[in-house]
Amino acid sequence: MPISKAVIPAAGLGTRFLPATKAMPKEMLPVVDKPAIQYVVEEAVNAGLHDVLMITGRNKNALENHFDRATELEAALEAKGDQKRLQEIIRSTQLANIHYVRQRDPLGLGHAVLRAQMHVGREPFAVLLGDDLIDERDSLLSQMIEVHDARASSVVALMEIEPALSHLYGIATVETTEHDDVVTVTGLVEKPTADAAPSNLAVIGRYILQPDVFPILESTQAGSGGEIQLTDALNSLAGSGEAGGVYGVVFRGRRYDTGDRLDYLKAIVQVATSRDDLGPDFTTWLREFVARD
Ligand code: UTP
Repeated sequence: MPISKAVIPAAGLGTRFLPATKAMPKEMLPVVDKPAIQYVVEEAVNAGLHDVLMITGRNKNALENHFDRATELEAALEAKGDQKRLQEIIRSTQLANIHYVRQRDPLGLGHAVLRAQMHVGREPFAVLLGDDLIDERDSLLSQMIEVHDARASSVVALMEIEPALSHLYGIATVETTEHDDVVTVTGLVEKPTADAAPSNLAVIGRYILQPDVFPILESTQAGSGGEIQLTDALNSLAGSGEAGGVYGVVFRGRRYDTGDRLDYLKAIVQVATSRDDLGPDFTTWLREFVARD
């Protein structure tokens, strides 16, 4: 069955970015002049997924407002004759068919994904984490969809990391396949120590999931950090090989966790330097700044 739905969990508390995220969702933090979440929605749409379900929660109203009309603002821009900005804010309301469901308590990513069950039904679907940016120049989601279509399996995105960072990620046990960038995932463990990590391949925020993950999530107990972990449910699927098992696409492009302060700064620099309007001036300034230091 072809994939048409994207689920974007965005209900986390964003504690790593406090106090900025006390009253504002971390997914609304701007990367230059667009909130992080808009890049994620655009990525889903560019991969052909026009039906988007966002998992939100308390304090997340700004997400819904961002993708809704802002009629006063539109009228003001119209009156000023600022067509460029007017088109830009209208564009964000027409990007996709966006639905919302609330996760009443942020009990973990697995718990957030389970909130999508009614909307998704018996179809395979994509999950894109709302604070994880994949540079639009590097393709990932389309490749994952191709692997899913060829193997009728769940697919995770993997990235090589420094072993010392294992405690921040889900880490995969893998076997090679006939394709360089595609591996069979035989097991997954959430946030292991460097010593216990089965590999240096970390799960990053893109998934293609078979609907068979829902009953597994329903019976998944709280794991690492007291949260219901998607990694634990996928470990069950990978171990049993049920529903096509789990494959991994090894991503070697640019990816930023905008919920992490250092990665957020890197994202802004990368995006700003590549922009036609800001890039040349910003790059000149950046070079001078680094040389001065
Ligand atoms: P993170 O672990 O990065 O989110 O979850 P967090 O808990 O908000 O971050 P910190 O550690 O407190 O700073 C990855 C993704 O899963 C979503 C988050 O919104 C983020 O997009 N998430 C996490 C949920 O939707 N619900 C949850 O219960 C947990």
